[in-house]
Amino acid sequence: MGSAAGPRIAVVGGTGAVGTVTLDLLAGRGFASVRAFASSRSAGRTVRLGERELLVEEATPEALEAGDIDLCFFSVGTTTSRKLVPHAVRGGATVIDKSDAYRLTDGVPLVVAGVNDDAVSAADRIVANPNCSAMQLTCALAPLHEAAGLARVRLATYQSMSGAGDAGIDRLKATKPLEADLAIDWEPEGNAGELSEEYKLREETRKILGLPELPLHAACMRVPVLVGHAQAVWVETVEPLSPEAAAAVLEAAPHVRLADAPTPGRVAGTDEVHVGRIRRDPTAENVLALLVVNDNLRKGAALNAVQIAEGLLARRLLPA
Ligand SMILES: NC(=O)c1ccc[n+]([C@@H]2O[C@H](COP(=O)([O-])OP(=O)(O)OC[C@H]3O[C@@H](n4cnc5c(N)ncnc54)[C@H](OP(=O)(O)O)[C@@H]3O)[C@@H](O)[C@H]2O)c1
Repeated sequence: MGSAAGPRIAVVGGTGAVGTVTLDLLAGRGFASVRAFASSRSAGRTVRLGERELLVEEATPEALEAGDIDLCFFSVGTTTSRKLVPHAVRGGATVIDKSDAYRLTDGVPLVVAGVNDDAVSAADRIVANPNCSAMQLTCALAPLHEAAGLARVRLATYQSMSGAGDAGIDRLKATKPLEADLAIDWEPEGNAGELSEEYKLREETRKILGLPELPLHAACMRVPVLVGHAQAVWVETVEPLSPEAAAAVLEAAPHVRLADAPTPGRVAGTDEVHVGRIRRDPTAENVLALLVVNDNLRKGAALNAVQIAEGLLARRLLPA
């Protein structure tokens, strides 16, 4: 059960790129009963929770199963999540997992706060946090679907190095500016020339929006930028939708902010998904082109997980 300090929270992966931002956000929101876990490599180190220093504990099955955690944020990667999440659940915690271990598992809600919060029910013990690219895309697509129906989506992504965690950040820091290059940073998936990131982006977007047949094709690219993913998106709608009407519905949508010309450098550190350059594609009927940019470590990862938790607390699905 929670204490006067709120729910008893664990951040597993608390030393990583996403875990560090999660701790920052929890401190900023006044959550006080927070512990940090990582592998044996980092156990004994300290991490910051606002002004406080937390001792990093080793994320062993026994520690996670001890029964003294109400809410567990996982940002450790797929294999480790598969291994450790069941122990946290067995110990009585509700888990919000940021890896792709459970995202497409039937019966596990895949949630973008502000888009499909109601996908979580009282019985759910694992909530999956989507891929950073699917997160920002669905924030922009959901209101457009509501306004005019989605017929088809095509997009190209320009994803920052921090999307590959601390290893990606270190890779960028070791790169000389004139040697910086684009990268095809993902493994092939299936036989159609698609990358794993492109597959996830399509399948997760379909699940989040509840549109299992939505035609969606993506081309994903890693760019030498520290934080912030950009997407050039072409949205074909069922009904005609003017750029002005699209801007109006986007402006009213949760977690979306209109911007003239958003770039990663301008949006890093902010909470919203920034949408700009909304214009008609003159080469096709009912197609709008837009630019969607987001801080992949905040709404794209840690912030969304914290917003999911706040939604669960508001709906009394977690001990307060
Ligand atoms: N970066 C993004 O933009 C982003 C966005 C959405 C989702 N995600 C997902 O979030 C997860 C974490 O990503 P990240 O970018 O934060 O990675 P990261 O910077 O590499 O951090 C990984 C974290 O996992 C911990 N860890 C690794 N192996 C472990 C083990 N066996 N037991 C316990 N802890 C272990 C690490 O602890 P040590 O210090 O002990 O190594 C570290 O705290 C991934 O699943 C990723 O796909 C990332």
